[in-house]
Amino acid sequence: ETDPVKIMKQEVGKTAASRVSSGAIVGLGTGSTTAYAIESLGNRLQSGDLKDIVGVPTSFQAEVLAKQYGIPLTTLDAIDRIDVAIDGADEVDPQKNLIKGGGAAHTREKVVDSLAAEFIVVVDSGKLVDRLGSTFLLPVEVIPMAVTPVMRAIEKLGGKPELRMGIKKAGPVVTDQGNLVIDVKFEAIDNPIELEKTLNNLPGVLENGLFVGVANTILVGEIKDGKPTVR
Ligand code: A5P
Repeated sequence: ETDPVKIMKQEVGKTAASRVSSGAIVGLGTGSTTAYAIESLGNRLQSGDLKDIVGVPTSFQAEVLAKQYGIPLTTLDAIDRIDVAIDGADEVDPQKNLIKGGGAAHTREKVVDSLAAEFIVVVDSGKLVDRLGSTFLLPVEVIPMAVTPVMRAIEKLGGKPELRMGIKKAGPVVTDQGNLVIDVKFEAIDNPIELEKTLNNLPGVLENGLFVGVANTILVGEIKDGKPTVR
């Protein structure tokens, strides 16, 4: 691998996987960075370095990867705790608050990540921001019949909403739950706690991508003196 961003993601994913102990129930996040963590967990299982873990996937993607790498899976109905969750983010602020949902998986991610005793976020250094919303649009998952009124309500809140469209699909992106995603540009997100609640109170909104006070540990992959490191 020669792409520096991919190298950082790989390094940080591996580091997060190295923190998982045998017997753990592990929340498996979504996205390209977490994919490296899932791969690494699979490798540790295969080598015998790690035993008896079980994964709780946050998306169809995580489920497919876990199966590919031989990680046994369970559901929230069958367990009473999650020991650790590993998941990526689209933006991380200095208070460890996040924007997630770039992969349209934030609803299930928030369920799993908030249940974890420790939620480890894995990002490359390009995801660090001083203020949330400065580089990434805020994803909001909405049930399909409510898209138009929710977009109008978001405009009244000062946001610029756009319906997320598929790249390799004609028409809108459909989430794992069969809903749609509105990406919103806010000039500034000064009070993420308030905005998270306000958006989730709009009828028809399922969940938005603000994760406030959920993350415990942020692992940042970076390249220092030409070498990948994690801090
Ligand atoms: C998925 O909905 C997101 O919350 C991801 O965790 C996020 O987009 C990070 O993805 P990458 O690791 O691919 O940047």
